[in-house]
Amino acid sequence: QTIYLADYTPFGFDVDEVHLTFDLAPSATHVRARIRFSPNPDATDRTFFLHGENLTLLGAKIDGETVKPKVTPEGLTCDVPSIPFTWESHVQIDPAANTALEGLYQSGGMYCTQCEAEGFRKITYYPDRPDVMSTFTVRINGPHPVLLSNGNLVSSGDGWAEWHDPWRKPAYLFALVAGDLVAHRDSFTTMEGRTVDLALYVRPGDEGKCAFGMQALKDSMAWDENVYGRAYDLDVFNIVAVDDFNMGAMENKGLNIFNASAVLASPETSTDMNFERIEAIIAHEYFHNWTGNRITCRDWFQLCLKEGLTVFRDSQFTSDMRSASVKRIGDVIDLRARQFPEDQGPLAHPVRPESFQEINNFYTATVYEKGAEVIGMLRTLVGADAYKRALDMYFDRHDGQACTIEDWLQVFEDATGRDLGQFKRWYNQAGTPHLTVTETYKNATYTLTFTQNTPPSAATPDPQPLVIPVAVGLLDASGVEVMETQVLEVTDATQSFAFAGHSAKPTASILRNFSAPVVLEFDADHAALLAHDTDPFNRWESGRALALASLLATITKGSAPDNDYLQGIASILRDDSLDPAYRALMLGLPGQPELAAALHRRGDTPDPQAIFDAVRGMKEALAQTLKDDLPRLYARHQVTASYAPDAEQSGTRSLGNAALSLLTLLDNGDTAQTQYDAATNMTQQLAALANLIRAGRGDAALADFETQWQDDRLVMDKWFALQVSEAKPDDAADTAKALTRHRDFNWKNPNRFRATLGALAMHHAGFHAADGSGYALLADWLIKLDPVNPQTTARMCSAFQTWRRYDQIRQSLMAKELDRIASTPDLSRDTTEMITRIRNA
Ligand code: ARG
Ligand code: ZN
Repeated sequence: QTIYLADYTPFGFDVDEVHLTFDLAPSATHVRARIRFSPNPDATDRTFFLHGENLTLLGAKIDGETVKPKVTPEGLTCDVPSIPFTWESHVQIDPAANTALEGLYQSGGMYCTQCEAEGFRKITYYPDRPDVMSTFTVRINGPHPVLLSNGNLVSSGDGWAEWHDPWRKPAYLFALVAGDLVAHRDSFTTMEGRTVDLALYVRPGDEGKCAFGMQALKDSMAWDENVYGRAYDLDVFNIVAVDDFNMGAMENKGLNIFNASAVLASPETSTDMNFERIEAIIAHEYFHNWTGNRITCRDWFQLCLKEGLTVFRDSQFTSDMRSASVKRIGDVIDLRARQFPEDQGPLAHPVRPESFQEINNFYTATVYEKGAEVIGMLRTLVGADAYKRALDMYFDRHDGQACTIEDWLQVFEDATGRDLGQFKRWYNQAGTPHLTVTETYKNATYTLTFTQNTPPSAATPDPQPLVIPVAVGLLDASGVEVMETQVLEVTDATQSFAFAGHSAKPTASILRNFSAPVVLEFDADHAALLAHDTDPFNRWESGRALALASLLATITKGSAPDNDYLQGIASILRDDSLDPAYRALMLGLPGQPELAAALHRRGDTPDPQAIFDAVRGMKEALAQTLKDDLPRLYARHQVTASYAPDAEQSGTRSLGNAALSLLTLLDNGDTAQTQYDAATNMTQQLAALANLIRAGRGDAALADFETQWQDDRLVMDKWFALQVSEAKPDDAADTAKALTRHRDFNWKNPNRFRATLGALAMHHAGFHAADGSGYALLADWLIKLDPVNPQTTARMCSAFQTWRRYDQIRQSLMAKELDRIASTPDLSRDTTEMITRIRNA
């Protein structure tokens, strides 16, 4: 059953207040709801339908009189008065049996909830849609030392607590936590002078992993005040770490719930990348308090209204806390690895989709990351000051409301006087635009001609030209910048921009800072830009482009690695004035799926093993080119000060470890072994372990690592994942299969499942092994997981989304597995929708 944006109608009733009482018991939790409804003057349809799934209805009353609603598997209907009334219901639910991790469930003995998008209907009967907002009062009865819900604590006693959330909110922001947890406490005073009690609740034993997350929270609170003028609005802000969680984290009002992997951190157990990700997710969920909670979405088609904006805000935060150019490069690497394949395959959908079957399938890289890119473009087009004015207007005008993308664009139109009609296509059209650029030089005038073309897709058969902000700068022949960055607005299918007064043909640096999420096709002077571009992003991008071209030539023609590339990278690596983190990024190579996509775009059929070999060959060439520099680069980038996960130290370690991975190709892992033995933090230990595996001598270290960390679930996830991701292509499926038989392989835990099977799906040459073993193993496990956890299963189906890119034999092997999944009896709605869309490619 497909749901359409165009069919939106408001609910027939307003909810004035909600009172919930929970009597917690693992297999028989009782939930009593008392809800005040009144007719919604803005609605015409007065059908009283309440969502409800997997609920046992034990009783219902209207204004104190028992009623007998008509109950279906999706909800109930009932005759109700045409004036305000009180609805009461009593249901029983089974948290212990809830393996889908949606609604109220148990994780490691504690109770927790996940309601976004449509999980609240598994807790009680309710109009479970984001445009129905209400205050909530929640009483929890249960023999647990910690009993939490949204808002402020009203009162509590032995075995009970009562919470009240004064801010009207949709049900997807409801949360409840109960268990034997310990609190790491702190406080924050807002710019309005309100003291907020902060707590991070974890399982006993994890107390030592809280300090960093707490600091990240306080930094986020201060940043949102300073940059967006937004202060926190309750007396308490609680975060809870949960082991079993489908996503990263959830912004429930005043009670954020986190996947333990997205909040718990310590130097011994977390890598620098983990720290940075945790800081970003804490910020993201906190920022949702304004962009998501105070202003929410009218319906789930508007998901990017809160997610694109909040991702944009968290990336601004990370840029401010760390290095802006390093963050930007990282975001683009991620966009190309996750969003581009989605936008260029059968799962392509607009940033604001127009239809869906299961909304959980639309928490995608397109909605989140492309959604953030669209906001970045808007800010580039209107400028930082106008952006600020528009945001102030947005908060002023829409606080307390459930809004749409139209509301969002309207504040920009009102704040700037600009017509955003064409810009809006970024929200409505699927597909990655291609921007082809040609140059001419005549009579001292340099002219750039842009042609934009978005490939048609099932979601957008007839794409129209977009407004594309293209940041351009010009350099002269000696590498001096002769025109600073200008933002050109490309609005037509083909459009030229002339730059007069250039006595010699300049070198163009186009799409600086990746000013739009497009595929740029321009025969730039990459070697010159790599040496001289003043834009850090494009300087990196030029190295990337040279690497890509060289790798493609190796794959298709057997060419040797491009010497211009190798020498250009070498001089950057030798330049100690450049940030180590940036230099480490310079050593990175395009991802193997990205190479496959580039080959496909040129009309070639990618051979995953040939791609794998070419990348390996390029690394060897880099190692040879830098042979004399590597020992010094490595030695210089060892941190001797006590560990801090800040940008400076992490950057130093990342360059040291980038050097290590090349050194390993020269010394067969001797340096890695020394590093492993001496490591005092996870960044160093894990990098050393990866290199030892690559050098074919990882067994002892793997055994040692397991002995050291067997009691730490998050570290053991790394142990599972690394063995798969570092396996030789022919061994990847067997390695993953062997790990699924390990005593610690708990397939119902999403982190462990992803560490093992997700790592296989991400091992390009391993997943696409010619015998189909990767496809078969993943399909086996998706079929097994689907009845237990449809959400995580459906997400992982995307491993197959690029199946049409490969040769006939691989295509038919994948088609066979897709058919096998599709024909599984009682397949979930989530997985059915994903597999159907993928097969339609
Ligand atoms: N709103 C959460 C976030 O972006 C994501 C929760 C999504 N959950 C889901 N089941 N789809 O931070
Ligand atoms: Zn979010």
